[in-house]
Amino acid sequence: MSDKGSEGATDIDTLKDIGPATKTSLKEAGFRSIKDLVIRGPMDIAEATGIAIEKCITLCNKARETLEDIGVFDKPFITANQIYEKRKSEYRIATGSKNLDDLLGGGIETRAITELYGEFGTGKTQICHTLCVTVQQNDAEGNLSRALYIDTENTFRPERIASIASARNIDPNTTLENVIVAKAYNSSHQEVIIQESPNVINLHNIKLMIVDSIVSHYRAEFLGRSFLSERQQRINRLLHILLRIAETCKIAVVLTNQIQSSPDALFGDPNKATGGNVMAHSSTYRLYLKKSGKNRIARMVDSPYHSEREILFALNDQGIGDPQK
Ligand SMILES: Nc1ncnc2c1ncn2[C@@H]1O[C@H](COP(=O)(O)OP(=O)(O)O)[C@@H](O)[C@H]1O
Ligand SMILES: [Mg+2]
Repeated sequence: MSDKGSEGATDIDTLKDIGPATKTSLKEAGFRSIKDLVIRGPMDIAEATGIAIEKCITLCNKARETLEDIGVFDKPFITANQIYEKRKSEYRIATGSKNLDDLLGGGIETRAITELYGEFGTGKTQICHTLCVTVQQNDAEGNLSRALYIDTENTFRPERIASIASARNIDPNTTLENVIVAKAYNSSHQEVIIQESPNVINLHNIKLMIVDSIVSHYRAEFLGRSFLSERQQRINRLLHILLRIAETCKIAVVLTNQIQSSPDALFGDPNKATGGNVMAHSSTYRLYLKKSGKNRIARMVDSPYHSEREILFALNDQGIGDPQK
């Protein structure tokens, strides 16, 4: 695998008007890039380094301004048309199913979080495996886009990626080389992996980060009502970091989520996504997956610009695809 190189223009050392002692404290606490500062935010930096919160706020503001200067972020007060033009050229990842791409407005969007939730066996993990293959295209700069897969349920299977690649006439070994995998053993480990991911994302030109699944460790570890608020706070913090990673590193973040059924629901579907409001507010797009015989239904449940609509897709040799007519 060829690496993209070092952080370059976003190295901590390039921050202006910041003393060497502060830079050393930041580096010792694991902050390598200016992007890391924006991703983690002032509270996190203060906690990790012992630097006063006021100074951390200044640091984050300087970091954000630097990213605006080099074009990673938009400067404030631009026209809607400028945003519209930029969005049209934004990188999207094909899912393998035309129906699903259409539902998503052209594929999985970068700089956003897409959440897939549904009962077990509805195809969440299959979509994730397929995306690991379909993401592997050259980006605008001619670099190969790669995938980062964070596996929390021990359901990542390289064999499946290899067979999806073969079915698509792509070399399976090369495909597997371009998927970076991190297995998270518990919620704290999952947080460390996600916190450290920006460096890996930069180094390997990652364009897609998958967390399959996002809340399973938290559900297993934080049992009972008394831990509910701590659990939600931890999930909330993690989701904010993920959203900032998506925006600063210009990647697509795909999360899978389980469902819980509310037996008191008198009307409609009693199933809802776990993670409560924290989860609902963080995902840019939410897709609810259901079984429909051999096929699967994907319903766009929440999106800033799509209507609530559903489509059919199929699980097949190529990972996912469209149902046969
Ligand atoms: N090679 C394959 N071809 C077709 N379907 C498959 C293949 N491998 C797994 N499946 C189907 O995928 C489903 C499991 O989907 P999965 O994505 O693991 O569910 P979950 O939503 O729980 O993550 C099962 O119905 C299984 O039959
Ligand atoms: Mg799964």
